[in-house]
Amino acid sequence: MIERRVLVLPGDNIGPEIVPEAIKVLKKVDEIFNLNIEFEYGELGGAAIDACGLPCSNATLEKAKAANAILLGAVGGPQWDHVDLEIRPEKGLLAIRSELDLFGNLRPAIMYPQLSHASSLKPEYVSGLDILIVRELVGGIYFGKPRGIRTLVDGEREGYNTYRYKESEIRRIARMAFEAAMIRGKRLCSVDKSNVLEVTVLWREIVEEVAVDYPEVKLSHMYVDNAAMQLVMQPKQFDVIVTGNMFGDILSDIAAMLTGSIGMLPSASLDINGVGMYEPCHGSAPDIAGQDIANPLATILSAAMMLRYSLGAKNEAKAIERAVSSVLDNGLRTGDIFTDGMKKVGTAKMGNAVVKALELSAL
Ligand code: IPM
Ligand code: MG
Repeated sequence: MIERRVLVLPGDNIGPEIVPEAIKVLKKVDEIFNLNIEFEYGELGGAAIDACGLPCSNATLEKAKAANAILLGAVGGPQWDHVDLEIRPEKGLLAIRSELDLFGNLRPAIMYPQLSHASSLKPEYVSGLDILIVRELVGGIYFGKPRGIRTLVDGEREGYNTYRYKESEIRRIARMAFEAAMIRGKRLCSVDKSNVLEVTVLWREIVEEVAVDYPEVKLSHMYVDNAAMQLVMQPKQFDVIVTGNMFGDILSDIAAMLTGSIGMLPSASLDINGVGMYEPCHGSAPDIAGQDIANPLATILSAAMMLRYSLGAKNEAKAIERAVSSVLDNGLRTGDIFTDGMKKVGTAKMGNAVVKALELSAL
């Protein structure tokens, strides 16, 4: 029998509001399809700092290593602005990504037809949009050493980071992106800045090397500045995009907004064996925390990705995605995706509606 041990890390601000909605949905799926999912809970980010002084304790790391998948809400917020950069909530997230070697970050930006009017772009530019951003997640400038803030001999301070990628790191993310392209539209765009940065000259070279194994995939290359522009100008030209850690961070926020709201975007962060952490792409949204207005759908859709990629339950993942779609068909909208004529609901009501849709589909 497939083991399905899930570590749940609600995190901070809206995290503890949206995660329970995804758990409700997973429990309903479990009830209908008998998946025997076991849930365990842990702390990460600000919640962990408050509890033990560190954004990611060894206890949380051990639990994460023992789980088959991790479901994360979001971390961070102004409550922890004063703490040292070294132990900021975000460092907890980076630590868990890195310790578990979750190098492959999949961020699908899909336009639900029901939401084409919620995008800031005209519907004709975004209707039918279906992009997958594959972001390298445990290397690049986020992790490169040396890094720090130092005082120079003249007394002036200097901040510095190091952008580096090893061939093996580029190769494995490129492979993951080609594999993803093979089961989609067979087009891959690798994004770099090889007109300026040596790291990405190597990136381009290795991606070309890996491409030899995937003759069916049409590979193109784009500089990151152009890619940002093309994403808002003609987003439908893209199928799969592969890029490094920081470029992927930025481009995935752009892609998210094309779909109407970052509140709809799930993500998966995978290791080489398919163990993964699943989290919505949006942050912890401190400005709307505690009001029951956050959109739980990105987290619910992340739970669906978790079933698909780490828990061997593809059909059940589809059932969740269909349930989300039917809730949108019924006109239910949280504030971030609200348009005239629709029915505005809060976080918990949206979660309940997805549960109800699952129940109905099981009848
Ligand atoms: C993301 C976030 C994180 C990142 C932060 C919270 C560290 O922006 O997952 O996109 O930069 O990777
Ligand atoms: Mg980001």
